[in-house]
Amino acid sequence: MAPFEAFARAAWIRSRSVKNMPTSQLNPSTEFAVRARFNQLLDDEARLRLALASAKEHGGVQRSLARAAGIGNSIVGKLLRLRGLVATRDGRLVPLPGSGPDNPVPQLTDGRPWCCEQADALDWLRRLPDRCVSLVFFSPPYEKQRDYGTDKARAGVEWVEWLRPIVVDSARVSRGLVVVNAACPVRNWSYSPALEWLVADLTRLDGLVCGPSPYAWVKSGCDSVTGNGIPGSGGKRYQRRDWEALYTFCLPDRLPLRWADNTAFGEPPRKEGGQSSHQMRNGKRRRQAYTDPEVCNPGNVIRSPVGPHLGNPVAHENEAPMPLAVAERFVRWFVPPSGCVADPFLGSGTTIEAALRHGRTGIGCDVRSGQVEVAQQRLGMVNN
Ligand SMILES: C[S@@+](CC[C@H](N)C(=O)[O-])C[C@H]1O[C@@H](n2cnc3c(N)ncnc32)[C@H](O)[C@@H]1O
Repeated sequence: MAPFEAFARAAWIRSRSVKNMPTSQLNPSTEFAVRARFNQLLDDEARLRLALASAKEHGGVQRSLARAAGIGNSIVGKLLRLRGLVATRDGRLVPLPGSGPDNPVPQLTDGRPWCCEQADALDWLRRLPDRCVSLVFFSPPYEKQRDYGTDKARAGVEWVEWLRPIVVDSARVSRGLVVVNAACPVRNWSYSPALEWLVADLTRLDGLVCGPSPYAWVKSGCDSVTGNGIPGSGGKRYQRRDWEALYTFCLPDRLPLRWADNTAFGEPPRKEGGQSSHQMRNGKRRRQAYTDPEVCNPGNVIRSPVGPHLGNPVAHENEAPMPLAVAERFVRWFVPPSGCVADPFLGSGTTIEAALRHGRTGIGCDVRSGQVEVAQQRLGMVNN
């Protein structure tokens, strides 16, 4: 038996009642392994077709899928729902009611997979219909930092009050999450917690909730463990900034998310499996062999290099570009295939490139026409 199968089997056997639990109550590693296995089946056209074709023989679509994926029958319906699907009696998989394509995005009605416009973020968002994209993903100008030639480097409360309505309107436009990447500076011995104020105001005053806990983008290659990259800045800043946060927000009625696939980025485990040893209630120890799954839950730390490793040289036409790999994660986690992502602070177009590379569509705006042109050129090259 392959190690992965052995793991999945052991996981099922260990907890006999696991089959009847909603997926949210499953032990996370078990849930991840089972979901990964099931998603592999859904993503493999040939295997899926075979499983659907033999549905009658195995007593229905769900049973046949369970058999093909090697998982329990009763959980199949829940896993299908997490992918926005439902099985019909005549042996097909169709989109769940209400989870079909996003409402039409005005900019994409001619069938183009992307659109970039010059506009102010809030004005642009206000022109978009409710629930027209699956994800809004952006990295705004950071507090007290660059003004991007707009003559407005906002600080403290002014920055928070400027960004609040933008996140709130993004939540209206999104059928799922709004993901905001930002970081605040240390200046003259003092850290400015404006990002934390923003999170507090959005969740205490504006009626938004957070979905997944914040992600940390660790700029690998620039710390002493992963590389020797950029030098630190000491003095009045104390330390070099090695990580940035990505907070998630949404309207409460968007949860549970209609589509989320944290198995899209499963990573191979770092260590070989070995003996594990548990202390039991009676004080004795139980040892059992542990076999690693083929893929592990990627968790909420994203390691991605900066500097010359952003994924597309055009990104350097922006003063503070994001690595393509970071945007790709969120697109694949939270936008269903052929769904749309919006970025109201588009810069060089990283978010939309990530969307196009993974069979999604994307729209965005930037207040500077020069950046819109850069993004258009970049996306024209990707789309060809
Ligand atoms: C941190 S950069 C985004 C970088 C982008 N994620 C990339 O990878 O290239 C922020 C961008 O927001 C734009 N911007 C600043 N104020 C804006 C506003 N009010 N509306 C729309 N865009 C704005 C800037 O021109 C800048 O390109």
